[in-house]
Amino acid sequence: MSLVRINITASVILILLSSTPAFGDDDADDIKQRIGKGDPVAGKTKSALCQSCHGEDGNSTISSFPKIAGQYAAYIQKQIKDFKAGTRQDPLMTDIALTVTNDQDLFDISAYFASQKQMKGAKAVITKAGQRRFESGNGCQTCHGIKGKGLAPDSPFAPVIGGQHKDYLIKQITDFRNNARTNESTGMMGLISDLMSDEQIEEIATYESGL
Ligand code: HEC
Ligand code: HEC
Repeated sequence: MSLVRINITASVILILLSSTPAFGDDDADDIKQRIGKGDPVAGKTKSALCQSCHGEDGNSTISSFPKIAGQYAAYIQKQIKDFKAGTRQDPLMTDIALTVTNDQDLFDISAYFASQKQMKGAKAVITKAGQRRFESGNGCQTCHGIKGKGLAPDSPFAPVIGGQHKDYLIKQITDFRNNARTNESTGMMGLISDLMSDEQIEEIATYESGL
């Protein structure tokens, strides 16, 4: 698949989403839209187990545990469902996801993490090459939004990745490239990562994790 083809496919997806890249925010209205129908207050209690790895407010301190603070509730729900169905696999998360058997619990838990301020990098480490790739015509921000903070609060198509742990970003992009992670429904992440060298993955993860 050529870059041109990916460019066209990305544009078509965007037209279907009829969204423009926007800057995610933490104002009350944005938070309300990204939490969906769950109850974040109930979710705080229900998510005690999750907090032990992902951090009390979803900002984990260990880089192999992704930050989920301010992530779209709908994206969190999709990942839990994918882990349960086996379409995404991880030695730790697969078993844990299977413990979430009640839909309302999943809505509440994901609403709690989505209600937190969006994840943020500890410090901005801007690699020019990473930034260029992120912002280029068919770049990551087309789907992941400006600074990787999502397209719009009511548009959970692609996850928040700006401010995520660098090591986790590298692992996910590499997993997409190796077909170890295939749960992205359009197949675009697989195609995009196929074109990336280890060095390019490192550059972009350095850039994104600092946002
Ligand atoms: C023992 C540690 C641990 C616990 C407890 C845990 N997780 Fe995870 N979680 C992980 C790891 C490790 C990953 C990353 C898997 C990978 O590398 O693909 C992950 C990934 C995720 C992801 C995917 C994030 C993304 O950006 O794609 C979500 C969502 C998630 N966990 C939610 C939860 C929820 C909800 C709970 C509680 C029901 C929970 N986790 C409990 C370790 C844990
Ligand atoms: C055409 C849209 C599109 C483009 C362009 C795109 N992505 Fe994605 N990306 C997605 C979608 C959709 C997902 C979520 C997959 C899922 O549901 O599991 C994703 C997931 C990811 C993840 C996993 C996040 C997590 O929390 O586990 C990373 C990392 C990522 N993309 C990085 C990138 C990078 C880097 C680029 C640019 C080189 C890029 N993406 C370009 C659509 C896109």
